[in-house]
Amino acid sequence: MPLPLHPLPGVFGAEATVDLTAPGNRGLSADLLQALHDHRLLVIPGQHLNHADLLAAAAHFGPVDTHVDRRYAVGGFPGLTTISNITEDGTHVGVYDGDNEEEWHADNSFKPELTRATLLYSVITPAQGGETRFADATRAYADLPAELKERIAHLRAVHSIQQLAQLQSRASGGQSSTAAGSLATHPEVEHPLVLAHPVTGAGSLLLGSMVVKYIVGMDPDESRALLADLLAHTTSSPYVYTHRWRPGDLVVWDNLATLHTASPCDSSRHRRLLYRASVR
Ligand code: SIN
Repeated sequence: MPLPLHPLPGVFGAEATVDLTAPGNRGLSADLLQALHDHRLLVIPGQHLNHADLLAAAAHFGPVDTHVDRRYAVGGFPGLTTISNITEDGTHVGVYDGDNEEEWHADNSFKPELTRATLLYSVITPAQGGETRFADATRAYADLPAELKERIAHLRAVHSIQQLAQLQSRASGGQSSTAAGSLATHPEVEHPLVLAHPVTGAGSLLLGSMVVKYIVGMDPDESRALLADLLAHTTSSPYVYTHRWRPGDLVVWDNLATLHTASPCDSSRHRRLLYRASVR
């Protein structure tokens, strides 16, 4: 039976109605991967996944990346990271980047090898705020005027975790877990501004509101202006889907075709807990 898919409101994404732990659904890898490449974002609600199930779900999409920040790795489950605003004894239990600032990005763009897909599974959801917003970087690129496409075709941009750490720390009053992390020792990397998807071949804008430092070889003012214009275009409402989390939601995104950001959440009033797996 084909995977039941319903388009999400907006220009991209689909909801899949499937129980990923049902024994009969173990052979769905090809369908799930095809759906991800077709729609760029999959929402799979109503799941009951333990940590092993989440890793098994990730394996449908490719090899799970086990190189995660050790401070927030889930013990005994290499490849799973805790994302949370919860503190225990004054220490954050998961990756936490402050309550207020949006940070549009593609996961791990500060590394030489880009993450291909990310899965986020929600366990505790805030009654208000804490949504994740996704931007369709493929459609946004496709809609650019031809002259602009030509102008940016061969440009490369520098992605810097040092700059990300600095800007997040400033925005969060020193609360960001990136700032404190050993990841801040990664050297800067260059990526194409327009990424050709290795499977679909479609072009996408690889941007980041804090992690992208400058366009290589371009005058700094021109680089800042171009990056700001492209980000504003890509994250404008026609290209954005906002996911309001319910417990048991599994969301999977094509990290080579989309950008995303967490939305503000008041941590003094609302708890948020999700687990993340990334696929290489
Ligand atoms: C992420 O950037 O991978 C997490 C997004 C979120 O916390 O909503």
